[in-house]
Amino acid sequence: MGQIFPPSWNRLPIVAAIAGTLGPTLAIAGVWYYFSPWYTDVGYRPVQPVPYSHRLHVGELGLDCRYCHASVEISNVANVPPTQTCMNCHQTVKRDSALLAPIRDSAQSGRPMHWIRVHNLPDYAYFTHRVHVTAGIGCVTCHGRIDEMEIVTQMTPLSMSWCLDCHRNPAPYRRPVSEITNMRWTPPRDIQALTALLDRERPVNPPTDCSGCHR
Ligand code: HEC
Ligand code: HEC
Ligand code: HEC
Ligand code: HEC
Ligand code: HEC
Repeated sequence: MGQIFPPSWNRLPIVAAIAGTLGPTLAIAGVWYYFSPWYTDVGYRPVQPVPYSHRLHVGELGLDCRYCHASVEISNVANVPPTQTCMNCHQTVKRDSALLAPIRDSAQSGRPMHWIRVHNLPDYAYFTHRVHVTAGIGCVTCHGRIDEMEIVTQMTPLSMSWCLDCHRNPAPYRRPVSEITNMRWTPPRDIQALTALLDRERPVNPPTDCSGCHR
């Protein structure tokens, strides 16, 4: 066995002094890390196997989110579209584009595309799209202006405090369900009247107790 304690251990008072100044620094660094965009993944934008552009397909061509993310209103997860959805158009549009080669391969082989996941909660937190969108929370509130994105980027922290900020007072975030995919919807001047109407038509009661989200 070699030495168990390094020789410097003999200078314990110095170690203690260093720890004394280092401790608070580390604590501050910890706090910074916790609240920084890095920790919360805001700004995460992985490069995808095909440079699919929401700006082009949604912003310019005007496709509705549900054309591709068809399960968002009926399921916990918003599906990423199968290759066939792309082929509906790209069978003919840009059918020889090199950028679309992985899509054609996938269509031919039947092997699904491996899109890289952008937003991802830890398994111990429960989330469902269906409940949120049918309660009149629009995609833009949680995902930002997807219709302007060349590459999908995470815009909100998806942290527990972010969830709870809305759950404690959801009224200002609600909109008519007909507008959930509208990226340009702005609240009417008389937001009070709208809020009252929405509350009457579809009262909501988001969970703030631990077991609501940690099931
Ligand atoms: C023509 C199909 C299509 C349409 C229309 C479309 N999307 Fe997507 N969406 C995709 C594909 C493919 C991906 C996966 C590749 C990527 O992230 O760019 C994706 C990814 C996403 C992601 C990231 C998923 C993750 O991994 O976390 C979000 C959020 C999203 N879309 C929201 C929207 C919203 C909001 C709209 C409407 C404003 C919309 N999409 C319209 C095809 C589409
Ligand atoms: C409703 C029709 C439609 C659907 C569905 C559609 N696209 Fe497109 N896509 C277009 C059009 C139109 C263009 C632009 C063609 C042009 O620039 O002339 C385009 C362009 C592209 C380009 C750029 C190609 C290049 O060479 O410039 C890529 C990449 C692409 N789409 C990927 C996808 C993927 C991936 C999907 C499925 C998730 C998809 N598209 C679904 C209509 C569609
Ligand atoms: C209340 C906030 C919120 C709203 C509203 C919302 N999303 Fe999401 N979205 C999330 C969260 C959180 C995740 C990550 C879920 C996970 O990891 O379990 C996510 C993930 C996704 C994904 C990746 C696949 C998945 O389900 O994990 C897609 C695609 C997506 N959202 C599309 C949409 C579309 C389209 C809309 C509007 C119709 C929408 N979202 C509305 C918060 C939201
Ligand atoms: C912008 C507002 C908003 C944000 C952000 C938000 N929620 Fe919600 N959430 C709601 C509303 C409104 C409801 C209530 C729906 C109802 O009562 O019908 C709800 C309901 C829920 C429910 C109850 C589902 C059920 O089956 O009854 C869960 C779980 C939940 N949210 C989890 C989350 C998590 C986790 C996050 C963060 C990742 C989050 N929410 C972010 C507004 C929001
Ligand atoms: C509205 C939904 C919601 C409620 C209510 C909620 N949590 Fe969370 N919680 C989350 C989400 C989402 C995460 C994951 C955050 C992340 O990945 O940054 C999380 C993370 C956590 C973590 C891990 C913390 C960490 O820093 O990694 C703990 C511990 C926790 N929650 C405990 C609780 C307790 C205790 C309560 C009740 C007082 C509670 N949660 C209520 C949504 C919720």
